[in-house]
Amino acid sequence: MSANNLAAAKCTAIEQPNSKADSTAPTGVPVIDYEGSGYRQDFWEGQGREYEDAIERIALQRLLPPQGGRIAEIGAGFGRLADLYLGYDQIVLFDYSRTMLADAVRKWGHDPRFVFVAGNLYEMPLAAGTLDTLVMVRVMHHLADVPAALAQLQPLLHRSSTAVLEYANKRNLKAVLRWLTRRQRWSPFDPAPLEFVAMNFDFHPGWMAAKMKYAGLRVDERFGASHFRLPALKNNLPVGLLARLDSRLFQIGGKFPLAPSIFVRTAASDAAERPQPEASPGEASPAHLFRCPSCAAHPLAATGPTLLQCPSCARQYGQTDRIWDFKLPA
Ligand SMILES: C[S@@+](CC[C@H](N)C(=O)[O-])C[C@H]1O[C@@H](n2cnc3c(N)ncnc32)[C@H](O)[C@@H]1O
Repeated sequence: MSANNLAAAKCTAIEQPNSKADSTAPTGVPVIDYEGSGYRQDFWEGQGREYEDAIERIALQRLLPPQGGRIAEIGAGFGRLADLYLGYDQIVLFDYSRTMLADAVRKWGHDPRFVFVAGNLYEMPLAAGTLDTLVMVRVMHHLADVPAALAQLQPLLHRSSTAVLEYANKRNLKAVLRWLTRRQRWSPFDPAPLEFVAMNFDFHPGWMAAKMKYAGLRVDERFGASHFRLPALKNNLPVGLLARLDSRLFQIGGKFPLAPSIFVRTAASDAAERPQPEASPGEASPAHLFRCPSCAAHPLAATGPTLLQCPSCARQYGQTDRIWDFKLPA
């Protein structure tokens, strides 16, 4: 890692599970590999990140409709934030890592409203227009091809849906100060994404706004969050106080994004009307909820209670231990 990138890494919490990308992912876009990672224990539990967790929860509580039909978290990991979705009839936790999902199943598997789905967001197995609400937190910063990802996410929305997306801000105050004092060579004002460690990216807010617009996502609200992500503050002030103070900066931080983390509430204004559901979200059949991630055919055919088959390319997708598996073989 270059000295410059190391400086950037110090400004941003690195979520580096296995230090490798899964180059076998079939789209050709590398995917970070959290399979078997200790993300929950190594990054969150007892790791001094109560403030980040608290502020992300406050941001989501302000931006998400508190209840609705179907919500999906894309890159949900072990389901850290899933308690925020309990006002919904159906809660889809989607992730590339089966072991992270297995952890989520241990916590939430008793609740029939939860649907656990293993898949690659670049090869989306959820059908078009199926989500009333979409959330994606701490995932964008692992995406090597944001436009391709947004092109997969936008069609999941209908005209009344809400999508809340979070990304890491390259033009944060610390990076600006380091650049101005010549302690960092890369410019935080350069719009191009910065890969400061393999598969960890920071984004310029202007670049991200342009990509969202291109993907057909209208940004209705933007928050800057985690302004006080500094050990000196985190170690000396109570989490609740710090989070309350930070939440007062959400809106101004959205107008002038200098915080390390940015949340946006978006909508797909040109999307189709909410599809007429064949049943309420909680009762909809998996055959209708999913599409074939390989050829996009929809609906799938239910060939058993835990087995689906694509009517077009005949691929089969099954459910084991509560997890529907749509990861395509290489
Ligand atoms: C840093 S974790 C965040 C987990 C959760 N959103 C949270 O905030 O606790 C990133 C998650 O994104 C998932 N992820 C990364 N790339 C993905 C992809 N292409 N498709 C699906 N999930 C992906 C990883 O497997 C991992 O669980």
